[in-house]
Amino acid sequence: MDNIDFTRREYYRHMSCDHRRSRPHWPRWMGWPITKYPSDMIQYQQILYETRPELIIECGTAKGGSGLYFAHLMDLLNIKGGTVISIDINSDKRELPKHPRLVHLTGSTLDKDIFAAVSKTLSGKKTMVSLDSDHSYRHVIQELELYHPLVTSGQYLVVEDTADDGLPAGKGNVCGANQATEEFLQTHGHEYERKRYERQIMFSCNPGSWLLRK
Ligand SMILES: C[S@@+](CC[C@H](N)C(=O)[O-])C[C@H]1O[C@@H](n2cnc3c(N)ncnc32)[C@H](O)[C@@H]1O
Repeated sequence: MDNIDFTRREYYRHMSCDHRRSRPHWPRWMGWPITKYPSDMIQYQQILYETRPELIIECGTAKGGSGLYFAHLMDLLNIKGGTVISIDINSDKRELPKHPRLVHLTGSTLDKDIFAAVSKTLSGKKTMVSLDSDHSYRHVIQELELYHPLVTSGQYLVVEDTADDGLPAGKGNVCGANQATEEFLQTHGHEYERKRYERQIMFSCNPGSWLLRK
């Protein structure tokens, strides 16, 4: 492992070490916790600027900061009718941010009713998907097969947390997103251009998994 990989991994550990506790290590967007590296947030900004999605489907809401961030970027980019749908299985009574562009759905991303509700909103919109829910292999591979057909040409499919491989189990890190992405690309690689943004931003939770739909 070279120095960059080592530092990246240590940073990942640092970010995730207080998982499910007070989360003081998480950045905030407008006061709302967001579990993304600041560099990945900049990367999302770059791809939204370049591709101007009209619909962003986010699997995994957590505290809601990322959905709000996407909605605010759509505001800044003045994307007409731009909508963010954020899905989370967790139905506890957490407060989530409100924004006219932001829709929160509660349920599993693999639930057929949830998927039907999401599919109803497509109507030819330029659609980007960010998979950031359960990062286990079994879940991610199913999410990939289910959600990738929704990604429109020229838009991104981002598989989050492919950097988790190699971390010890039992600390809130369930490894598998990387393996799932590699397997998915064996079958669907011809449909995507893999962008290696980690080489640009250095610290990415998603190395090798910024996938641009051809
Ligand atoms: C890594 S967090 C999401 C972080 C958020 N996207 C952000 O950047 O701040 C993962 C979330 O996925 C949710 N989750 C886990 N399994 C899920 C499933 N099967 N369907 C939907 N959400 C799920 C968890 O409840 C948790 O809130």
